[in-house]
Amino acid sequence: MFITFEGIDLSGKTTQAALLYKHYKKAGRKVIFVREPGGTLVSEKIRKILLDRRNKNIFPLTEFFLFSASRYQLTKEIIKPFLKKGFIVICDRYYDSSTAYQGYGGMVDIKYINKINKIASENLKPDLTFLIDIPLEESMKRRGIIKKVNDRIESKEINYYKKIIAGYKKLAKSNKDRFKIIDGCKPVSDIHNQILKILKNFKI
Ligand code: TYD
Repeated sequence: MFITFEGIDLSGKTTQAALLYKHYKKAGRKVIFVREPGGTLVSEKIRKILLDRRNKNIFPLTEFFLFSASRYQLTKEIIKPFLKKGFIVICDRYYDSSTAYQGYGGMVDIKYINKINKIASENLKPDLTFLIDIPLEESMKRRGIIKKVNDRIESKEINYYKKIIAGYKKLAKSNKDRFKIIDGCKPVSDIHNQILKILKNFKI
């Protein structure tokens, strides 16, 4: 079983992924928890390049290839072997992040994204994807930048996030079989229980 968590920054998806991991671990299940970008020695090095604020002139396609390189390594080295051994694999972000951020965010042609996503995942598809959904205002509030929505940089950023949120919704609509949209504004424990209930229905 391959379970992924998606959502915009500060949606709370990492908290929920970690809670789910703890739940299965406590129950004595075979489970691992990985994150993107990262999760292997090489992928963590790529993560450092991606998150380094000094790398200002990185082209969108370079960025996308780096996310994809990190993903391929993680998929081959960890995700696939552990799935084969019967583990539940929980992943904090997977290729839907690239589709939402680089694709729908408007940086890279969605046709490239779809093609490379397939290659970087070796056609592996999550069995279930929890989209922790929060409105843009909530994300801004959590980041403490809600007050000055009109200055140039912030509104540029706001437009970008609007596109990502809409992109995620589009993705969920066209992948109804695996996407579960969860209201990220609810209390942490309510969200966790809702996720457990969904997984129970899937007999996991
Ligand atoms: P991270 O610090 O892990 O943030 P989060 O806790 O929100 O996951 O940084 C990951 C950042 O990289 C996040 O802003 C989303 C972005 N990202 C992409 O743009 N494309 C991708 O394919 C992935 C995996 C992440």
